[in-house]
Amino acid sequence: MRFCSLAVLHKIATSRNSSQYSPFTIDHSQITTDHSRTPERIHSDRIPNPKFSPHDSFHLLNFSSHFCSLLMEKKIIITIDGWSSCGKSTLAKQLARELGYLYIDSGAMYRAITLYFLRNHIDWTHPEAVTDALHHIKLEFLSNHKSGHCEMYLNGENVEYLIRDLVVAEKVSDVAAIKEVREFAVHQQQQMGSGKGIVMDGRDIGTVVFPHAELKIFMTADKEIRVKRRYQELYEKNPNVTMEEVRSNLEMRDYIDSHREVSPLRKAEDALELDNSHLTIREQLDIALRWTRERL
Ligand code: DC
Repeated sequence: MRFCSLAVLHKIATSRNSSQYSPFTIDHSQITTDHSRTPERIHSDRIPNPKFSPHDSFHLLNFSSHFCSLLMEKKIIITIDGWSSCGKSTLAKQLARELGYLYIDSGAMYRAITLYFLRNHIDWTHPEAVTDALHHIKLEFLSNHKSGHCEMYLNGENVEYLIRDLVVAEKVSDVAAIKEVREFAVHQQQQMGSGKGIVMDGRDIGTVVFPHAELKIFMTADKEIRVKRRYQELYEKNPNVTMEEVRSNLEMRDYIDSHREVSPLRKAEDALELDNSHLTIREQLDIALRWTRERL
């Protein structure tokens, strides 16, 4: 059995495309990230094999170890879609941290593009103006070494904080509905996922960006609970914000996101629904981790 396994293991080990298993095969000009949290490897000295000479045993252990590592390192794509303010990014960040995966907030890309359009007075009702403006936009996610999370950079400037402002939130759904903008963002999102080992949240991630993702989660929560959560988040930055403003912005975004012509928000047929209205952050993470383990 053992020599047979050796051949099989060798075949499997050498037939895998190593780039498929590298943590990220993304151009580092686009993204840098923390590689320190890769899953633990099984070391060969933990697998005794007394029937072989030290030499044979060494090779077998090496192959076994390599094979086990490949299994351990099986990386998948996890998509999290859903309504505004239902906690997608909280779950996505925690899941990515637990798994040693890359987390990408696709909404941040649409927000950064919106910020650029607003600052540069781009008339986004004109497709030529949009196409021209997109040529001047460089989006990058760079790791914040303190938080360990990737933050959004627009043409070299960290805009992670600015893009959360209500001024951007009021316009982002209109900008995200533009075909040219979506093509621009989706292409980059797909490149980021080419090495797998990624958790990406948004509205069309399981339906359009990664239709073959191994795990698709669709998050929902009661609307009033979502309004309260968003209000608390915005209030910390701007105490002048009112609950009514937050509610109408959320309703408007839900409507535009789910009724737009290009890639509207909808649950993928094979997505698992997670209603977190009455779940704690820990409970929702445990559910998502269980679903992930079932797919590894
Ligand atoms: O997730 P968020 O609230 O940061 O998203 C901001 C806006 O971008 C929201 O109106 C929906 C839109 N969006 C989108 O259309 N597709 C995505 N994949 C992510 C966000």
